[in-house]
Amino acid sequence: MNDIELIENALYGYIPKDLVFEKNLVDSIEYSLKAGGKRIRPRLVLEFSRLCGGGDKEALPYACALEMIHTYSLIHDDLPCMDDDDMRRGKPSNHKVYGEDIALLAGDALQSLAFETMSKAAITDSRSALAGVKCINILSSYCGTAGMVGGQVIDLENENKQADLESVTECNRKKTGALIKAACEMGCTIAGADEEKILAARKYGENIGIAFQIVDDILDVTSSDEELGKPVGSDAENNKSTYVSLLGIDECKCRVDKLTAEAIECLNVFDGDTTALKELSLKLSDRKK
Ligand code: IPE
Ligand code: IPE
Ligand code: MG
Ligand code: MG
Ligand code: MG
Repeated sequence: MNDIELIENALYGYIPKDLVFEKNLVDSIEYSLKAGGKRIRPRLVLEFSRLCGGGDKEALPYACALEMIHTYSLIHDDLPCMDDDDMRRGKPSNHKVYGEDIALLAGDALQSLAFETMSKAAITDSRSALAGVKCINILSSYCGTAGMVGGQVIDLENENKQADLESVTECNRKKTGALIKAACEMGCTIAGADEEKILAARKYGENIGIAFQIVDDILDVTSSDEELGKPVGSDAENNKSTYVSLLGIDECKCRVDKLTAEAIECLNVFDGDTTALKELSLKLSDRKK
């Protein structure tokens, strides 16, 4: 089984079963969780956990919880009141299939399911209960006001105006960087890594997190709906300021390479084999979707 299969196998096991009256909600959750996606954040959790000597079995519930939060963020991001995008992961967006009301509630339910999944794992495996609670603390602080949700607010408030690089950077750091940073820190934390390693993972995550959003903004201009699996031109249509609109594509590519190189530097503090993480960072910097 490769890592994506490992993650998806575990993730699908958390989809609620046997709910009769809420079937529409469960179908909507299942639709978005099973729509594919690169599974970058759970893969980062697993890679950092392995690097710090942790087992996949212990890390998987936290990896899946993060993918649930990410999927909820995408369902809400596509809603008409946000980016108003009709396609996601190569399929109609959740609200186009289930309606805005159910899509909103599916996002809410995924968020609850993430915290239920992590807290259950912490209770079940008493040896790693403290590490589990630390992971819950990391994810809860990075997905809310000071992280993903806060970044989405900056993103919306920057629409229809010429935002400066500082506020676009802050937006990217939060709306996208925070969950990527959470992945790296959670992987180390669940494996019981020391503070020096957690700090290095945080710095790595900060760098590839910003780079990840810059690449997303580049692809919004240079790719096609078919290749990307989501509508290109969404940023221009919503009159958003992005790294691309502020700096142009060539400068953006230079910054992505620099941020990726800086991220790879951060891996030096780890004693184990960092090849997989190096390769993943390089692949992300040159991704086509
Ligand atoms: C898309 O994230 C939203 C951003 C934060 C840029 P991904 O590019 O990781 O989306 P999936 O999970 O692969 O669909
Ligand atoms: C998304 O940024 C960030 C979050 C979903 C939190 P975008 O709005 O650029 O992501 P895409 O391009 O729709 O995936
Ligand atoms: Mg958005
Ligand atoms: Mg969007
Ligand atoms: Mg985008």
